[in-house]
Amino acid sequence: MMKTIIEPFKIKTVEPIRFTTVDERTSILQDAGYNPFMIRADDVLIDLLTDSGTSAMSAEQWAGIMQGDESYAGARSFFRFEKVAKELTGFTYIIPTHQGRAAEKILLTLLGGPGKCFPNNTHFDTTRANIEFSGAEAFDLLNPAGKDPSAIADFKGNMDVEALDRFIREKGPSNVPLVMLTVTNNAGGGQPVSMLNIRQTKEVAAKYGIPLFLDACRFAENAFFIKKREPGYRDKSVKEIVQEMFSYADGCTMSAKKDALVNMGGFLGLNDDTLAVNARNILIVTEGFPTYGGLAGRDLEAMAQGLTEALDEHYLTYRLRSVEYLGEKLTQAGVPILQPPGGHAIYLDAKRFAPHIPPQQFPGQSIVCELYRLGGIRSVEIGSVMFGKSDKLTGKFIAPALELVRLAIPRRVYTQSHIDYVIECVIEVYNNRASLRGFKIVLEAALLRHFTARFGVLQE
Ligand code: F0G
Repeated sequence: MMKTIIEPFKIKTVEPIRFTTVDERTSILQDAGYNPFMIRADDVLIDLLTDSGTSAMSAEQWAGIMQGDESYAGARSFFRFEKVAKELTGFTYIIPTHQGRAAEKILLTLLGGPGKCFPNNTHFDTTRANIEFSGAEAFDLLNPAGKDPSAIADFKGNMDVEALDRFIREKGPSNVPLVMLTVTNNAGGGQPVSMLNIRQTKEVAAKYGIPLFLDACRFAENAFFIKKREPGYRDKSVKEIVQEMFSYADGCTMSAKKDALVNMGGFLGLNDDTLAVNARNILIVTEGFPTYGGLAGRDLEAMAQGLTEALDEHYLTYRLRSVEYLGEKLTQAGVPILQPPGGHAIYLDAKRFAPHIPPQQFPGQSIVCELYRLGGIRSVEIGSVMFGKSDKLTGKFIAPALELVRLAIPRRVYTQSHIDYVIECVIEVYNNRASLRGFKIVLEAALLRHFTARFGVLQE
């Protein structure tokens, strides 16, 4: 008999969560300008804003914290971390950074600039912002199934390799400094990329002499999807699959705040000697000496241990199952979600959830606010707030393809009863969806506006 998949840990330290009333949350929302990023974490009951930097560390990781070598140069902790990261990725140079976007910033400072074009399956918002900040342009070349929220397919994160080939020819290979693949594809629904697709993407890039970089923050979840879904990988260990994934890449940017199970950290992996010298020079100016790169020695210890724990199959089985369980229960209740469930999050399909709210009135933001008001659950809009734009000439609103609300599940933090509570709240919001109202932006920043924008509720 198939038994319930249980959390593969017992709990040694607990952190209380604070209960508030619906009335209290109504006024908290108003004060926050209806932007969940502006709500104090103490006022949140279940925080599904992100799976980034929110993991619970293990006893071994906490033990590593005590063992951190805080020497400025040549710290023991760096060499432990470097050894683990090299073994997994095979890259010649491992350059620690304080988080993923710091690795992106260094890479794109070196390779970006006006006239340059960067393709990806789907860029995450910080990657896109770093590309655009350098004066270059970012392009998403997701496969067609990935763009259809209700299509069921095994690897909806795949790059459209034919489109990539056309893209490189159109732009000219000399204008494409690198090809990126984000595993799993966060902005596209946490959907995995197949090994075949990684290999094919590499082949196209190599044909034009362009390096392939992985945006690797959810590498272990991606590898486990490959093990479960891709022919030929069932009997391989997760570690072997991870090593094969990285073997096709010439470098990576990594936010260790996801699959490396730490609260802060990242790195840049490189093979190219010149690029590595230049990257370390920028690192010294912006992050720190190459053996700590913006981190404490103890962070490097925790990261080394986390990179190892992320490969544990009991952990990955529970991890993917708990996200899938949330998706299954919502689907059974008729709630439209991006199918199939991704690795780190469930994405509500706001277009079908609240079809009476047009994209320019931010249907996702409306659902996000109601989930908080009703249940104290914090989620995030990934749709017109995050990616909507105005046409430079006409000023007309351009909506992104998808309007989503992400319920990101922190790693090893919430139990199944927390997830059951989330399911009950989402279903209640869905059943009362006719009462959801549209929003307007009353204040916004030029870049990454979703973090700080303030909203007003539209009355009809
Ligand atoms: N790439 C991807 C695919 C990401 O999901 C993130 C962060 C980054 C890069 C940047 O890493 O935060 O360490 O600087 N994603 C978080 C999220 C913020 O909520 O999805 P970072």
